[in-house]
Amino acid sequence: MNYRLKYPYEFIGEILITQEQIEERVAEIGEQITQDYQNSEKLLLLGLLRGSVMFMTDLMRSVRRPMTMDFMLVSSYSGTDSTGFVRIDSDHKSSIAGWDVIIVDDIIDTGFTLHTVRKLLLDRKPRSLKVCTLLDKVARHKVDIQIDYCGFEIPDHFVVGYGLDIDEKGRNLPYIASVDLDKYHQLYG
Ligand code: IMP
Ligand code: MG
Repeated sequence: MNYRLKYPYEFIGEILITQEQIEERVAEIGEQITQDYQNSEKLLLLGLLRGSVMFMTDLMRSVRRPMTMDFMLVSSYSGTDSTGFVRIDSDHKSSIAGWDVIIVDDIIDTGFTLHTVRKLLLDRKPRSLKVCTLLDKVARHKVDIQIDYCGFEIPDHFVVGYGLDIDEKGRNLPYIASVDLDKYHQLYG
């Protein structure tokens, strides 16, 4: 494969999870959700923008149950650092009272984002509330959170691709790759 095609960003380190591995795992999670929600007529997948977009659109295609989707825009990050302060920039539109809600996130790092969003949503009285994340950086957790569906556990590298970004760059890569932080800082300061 052409080098530029394979690595459209100069700061890409290595590919950690390929497009094929993602496809396979997302289909498995969709199947698991399909089985787990056989008795639910009100299933809502609630994605956290913007990182979960690609994951959400692939995942919902492998959920074979009636479902709806909605999004919230939350932010806690600046560059590669979690600020620990979670901001709800845009809330979901649909009421979740009585719904079986699955929060869909791209990656769990410190866990602050999920912890905050979960607490907020529980106050809105869903019938059930579960967490689904594509990636989990287990070694970085600072708060205890239960993850019900997880795509891949990854080591403590900053990663981009499949929706994930570094300062908005890298989201369009179809795979998950580590960022060469030295290179990144050379390029962008
Ligand atoms: P937490 O609140 O520390 O768990 O951070 C979760 C959010 O930080 C994720 O939803 C991502 O938007 C962002 N994040 C954490 N680690 C990474 C990474 O390695 N690459 C890209 N975004 C990340
Ligand atoms: Mg995010």
